[in-house]
Amino acid sequence: MKNFFKLAIIFFSFIYSISLNDGRPTHHFCKKAAKSDPNLSYNFCVRSLEANPKTQNATLEELVNISIKLTISNATNISSSISQLLNQKNLDAYTRGALQDCLELYSDANSELNEAMCDLKKKDYFKANIDVSSAMDSSTTCEDGFKEKKGMVSPLTKENNAFFQWTAIVLAFINMLS
Ligand SMILES: *[C@@H]1O[C@H](CO)[C@@H](O)[C@H](O)[C@H]1NC(C)=O
Ligand SMILES: *[C@@H]1O[C@H](CO)[C@@H](O)[C@H](O)[C@H]1NC(C)=O
Ligand SMILES: *[C@@H]1O[C@H](CO)[C@@H](O)[C@H](O)[C@H]1NC(C)=O
Ligand SMILES: *[C@@H]1O[C@H](CO)[C@@H](O)[C@H](O)[C@H]1NC(C)=O
Ligand SMILES: *[C@@H]1O[C@H](CO)[C@@H](O)[C@H](O)[C@H]1NC(C)=O
Repeated sequence: MKNFFKLAIIFFSFIYSISLNDGRPTHHFCKKAAKSDPNLSYNFCVRSLEANPKTQNATLEELVNISIKLTISNATNISSSISQLLNQKNLDAYTRGALQDCLELYSDANSELNEAMCDLKKKDYFKANIDVSSAMDSSTTCEDGFKEKKGMVSPLTKENNAFFQWTAIVLAFINMLS
């Protein structure tokens, strides 16, 4: 009888632990990632990753893979948004300059993230961390470019914040791997 209760307790703790993160890897790893970095939003992590069905049963290695690809896709999309903004004819010189800087920053970020993919294949987590950190800096440097002039409003705040979150997720996952 005693053993039965012991087993029952073990069984129900097991069920409880599964229900806590729904058994979904994104919930578990996003929770861990958010804990490791106060700037990382758990909700953004879960929402953005679960939009991709491949994350459903993914291992941490696969999640790193998927999230880095989505981050590259985000950078590519942001670059096209910037190009569209640059097509406007009535831009003042200051905004045009800042947008051109951002376009270059996101192109660099794209290369750095591709480099990070190679690092990960070689299990060089140290180098991958450096490359993703550089990519992350693109979002903050881009945003800062609009702050240099008083009264200037960044047209890319939403994009920069999203990209910052993406890179924070990739970084946190890489740090969990290493
Ligand atoms: C991250 O959060 C810390 C506070 O926890 C803050 O000082 C820092 O500026 C944040 N970094 C960025 C890039 O937002
Ligand atoms: C994930 O695993 C569950 C249970 O093992 C299975 O029912 C489901 O089809 C799997 N989903 C994918 C996308 O592989
Ligand atoms: C990550 O993606 C690359 C290329 O897309 C693939 O070669 C590699 O096997 C993947 N690794 C994992 C753990 O899924
Ligand atoms: C990039 O844009 C395409 C087309 O609009 C969209 O399907 C995709 O989800 C976007 N990628 C990311 C990571 O936001
Ligand atoms: C970047 O990713 C975020 C989160 O998935 C999304 O909301 C945003 O629209 C993406 N940006 C672009 C330009 O696709």
